[in-house]
Amino acid sequence: MRLGIISALAEEQMGLIDAMHNVEKHVHGMREYTAGKLWDIDAVCVLSRIGKVAAAMTASILVEKFDVTHIVFTGVAGSGDVGVRVGDIVVAESLVQHDMDASPLFPRFEIPLTGQSHIASDRDLTRRLALAAREFLQEEPGTPQLHRGLIASGDQFIKHRAQLGALKDALPDLLAVEMEGAAVAQVCFELGIPFGVIRTISDNANEDAAVDFMEFVHKVASRYAFSVLRNFCRV
Ligand code: ADE
Repeated sequence: MRLGIISALAEEQMGLIDAMHNVEKHVHGMREYTAGKLWDIDAVCVLSRIGKVAAAMTASILVEKFDVTHIVFTGVAGSGDVGVRVGDIVVAESLVQHDMDASPLFPRFEIPLTGQSHIASDRDLTRRLALAAREFLQEEPGTPQLHRGLIASGDQFIKHRAQLGALKDALPDLLAVEMEGAAVAQVCFELGIPFGVIRTISDNANEDAAVDFMEFVHKVASRYAFSVLRNFCRV
């Protein structure tokens, strides 16, 4: 396995690069790719920046230029369900691009000419991520929960209750909203690369989302990413 690890922002990947050995850095397409050994796994860490195009470009380069065989996206997300709270972790079983709508040419959410709307993550990576997250959460105060299911991505920061309500009407199983995962899913689906997505909930995708996001991403997200990836590499 050569594992590509993507996050949108530096806070979401904090500590991982410091934990790497035999590090080599390469700049390509305005991003820095750090290759090395991460707890015995051959890994390449990179920050995609925010949004679906940024994430798709980063995933493609990881595969085509850095020869990764598997990809994990780790970061934060807004809650997509009342049962999913700030501090909980969501591991994606499938991902949908919630702003994809080529109807009436294709059904809403379907990625034209692929026949796919919900793209399934790799079962083994997803199982390992869930195990790693569960192990980490057991030691966290306040009993945060692990959830597995549907994550929706789009080029929108969801910050109004009504925006989330409309998405939830269309996607009742939704657990979390973010801005990159389903783009990585499409790239990996098309290139035949197993992938997983793990997200810590930073906000409730409502009017408080921006403030909660900033606070959570600085104080908490980095600790989650580091600890969960460390457990993942040891599973
Ligand atoms: N990532 C974290 N919170 C988010 C939100 N509310 N909307 C979209 N992406 C997010």
